[in-house]
Amino acid sequence: MREKRAYQCQACGALASKWSGQCADCGEWNTLLESAPALPVRRQRAGQLRGVDDTPAGIVDADEVAAETEGHKALGIGEFDRALGGGLVPGSVVLIGGDPGIGKSTLLLQALAAHATDGEHRPLYVTGEESLRQVTLRAQRLGLATGRLRLLAETQVEQILALAARERPTVMVIDSIQTMYTDTLQSAPGSVAQVRESAARLVQFAKQGNTAVLLIGHVTKEGSIAGPRVLEHMVDAVLYFESESDSRYRVIRAVKNRFGAANELGFFAMTERGLREVSNPSAIFLSRGDSAASGSTVTVVREGTRMLLLEIQALVDASQLAHPRRVAVGSDANRLGMLLAALHRHAGIATQDQDVFVNVVGGMRIAETGADLPLLVAVVSSLNARPVAADMVVFGEVGLAGEIRPVAYGEERLAEAAKHGFKRAIIPAANRPRRSINGLEVAPVSHLGDALALIR
Ligand code: TYD
Ligand code: MG
Repeated sequence: MREKRAYQCQACGALASKWSGQCADCGEWNTLLESAPALPVRRQRAGQLRGVDDTPAGIVDADEVAAETEGHKALGIGEFDRALGGGLVPGSVVLIGGDPGIGKSTLLLQALAAHATDGEHRPLYVTGEESLRQVTLRAQRLGLATGRLRLLAETQVEQILALAARERPTVMVIDSIQTMYTDTLQSAPGSVAQVRESAARLVQFAKQGNTAVLLIGHVTKEGSIAGPRVLEHMVDAVLYFESESDSRYRVIRAVKNRFGAANELGFFAMTERGLREVSNPSAIFLSRGDSAASGSTVTVVREGTRMLLLEIQALVDASQLAHPRRVAVGSDANRLGMLLAALHRHAGIATQDQDVFVNVVGGMRIAETGADLPLLVAVVSSLNARPVAADMVVFGEVGLAGEIRPVAYGEERLAEAAKHGFKRAIIPAANRPRRSINGLEVAPVSHLGDALALIR
């Protein structure tokens, strides 16, 4: 059969049958590169449908399959296991993306060493970026128990798979997918075609051999993740490793997980001896002084399955502009505009002639509506130059009619606040706890005006 589509745009992923200087889809120049021939790819897909023992795929009882599947296997690093949804699932493929230098290699080396300590497992670390010497030196510096950790310096996928098939590791790390290449393609390692084809082969190996494969992927400086993004749909879980610039704290976030909750977070601190778990992350985000400044409010959000105390700051200042600025860092700017409209209409507080800046401290992003009320409380506090009490915590959704709507997990949020020594809470009336919470005075409110009256 004649091959039809053999070129792919590195920018947008569009396929073309002929090479040309400009991509017909997105208009980028010099982005078309040879892609894998369609026929072998299709054969491969069919192969993937075969069972572990290579019997042809057929219709089976779900019961039989479920009985065979194994659950999560903890690697032994709590925060990483948490982000994975409880550990690694045998035969699954996890993509770990992040900026160069953020600590991906360090974390996975530590994770494999932790996994190897139970004596049963012999994980394999495949390095395409660093030499065996470099990896070993790092492991020594981290003080890892490397006795059962196996290393391989190789970038050709066929070679890796041939060796891994003999070794049958329970867990295999590929550091990084951008350095891998398959012989079936002419294009350079790191191109979209190579990254995707290499990953496809590794995914196939994982499913057939029941090896859990962890793929490291670099995010490029421009923020476009040409490599990892095209892989997101091929893998079972996608974790991104993030940090605020200059901060030693690292957050690993599950953005996709077929075997667990997405949005689960793991927290780490980078030290001289590698990454250390931070099991009480609220403490880092709240490291503010005892004297509260105006424009600051503490709220409790739910991240994954964990409650997290965060500080929201607002700065409201007379504007010189015809269209005053609305800037939201770590929260949604459109929602900020909507909340300010509600504040004007239902609480009579105007900000039309003010610039409004809102920031979530610590570089965190808030994606839930429970931050509506604390955000407006911070805005009003800044506008009036009156601090909110330092022992006060606020959460609740603000509706367009100025009503305060409940959020999920109200009692858990209150418990987290009490645990960190907060004494007062402004919460939605519908979230009123059934039992009183030790040391916490709760003020349930049903309207925006009632809430703001409590802080003025
Ligand atoms: P690395 O794991 O090599 O990052 P990635 O694989 O994501 O590119 O981490 C490199 C950075 O981490 C480097 O800037 C040094 C720092 N680091 C420490 O601070 N302490 C350590 O123990 C290690 C191993 C690295
Ligand atoms: Mg690395």
